[in-house]
Amino acid sequence: MREKELILQFKVYEGLNELEDRDRALLGQAVAAAAQAYAPYSQFRVGAAVLLDNGKIILGNNQENLAYPSGLCAERVAVYAARANFPDARIQTVAITARAGKHQLHNPVYPCGACRQVLVEVESKQNSPIRVLMAGPENEVVEARQVADLLPLQFSAHLSKE
Ligand code: THU
Repeated sequence: MREKELILQFKVYEGLNELEDRDRALLGQAVAAAAQAYAPYSQFRVGAAVLLDNGKIILGNNQENLAYPSGLCAERVAVYAARANFPDARIQTVAITARAGKHQLHNPVYPCGACRQVLVEVESKQNSPIRVLMAGPENEVVEARQVADLLPLQFSAHLSKE
């Protein structure tokens, strides 16, 4: 038996002013996307902005449904839209934020497990890291260098390249 240790490194920005201009703008787009979320059931509006290596930015927000499981998270709406419309582009950065109605939200939001699983497969297939910027209604922003850092010991089948 051996014991192993995983060390997670991430960046914490105390304010938006600490971000690069391009990242601040991307987060701004995620905020705008969150405002357009369809979240009548949870009142929890999530926005995601996906920056592609062709310079395009694809937005997503959570889309809920009365039949609850039929809804989809903001991150997957954005990533699937990016994959559908620009199948050859690589994702460079995903910015995520949220605004809560009835919940008290102060901290940055982190993608749910299912979204991490989807993102990590894209990252693995495109063979280059996807940075993840995570923000909330206040100014703190957390940055992961790659999705794999958010999903250690991930389910993976060593996908062959298409
Ligand atoms: N949600 C997201 O959009 N992204 C996440 O990573 C977690 C949760 C959405 C789903 C649902 O519409 C609402 O937030 C409350 O869970």
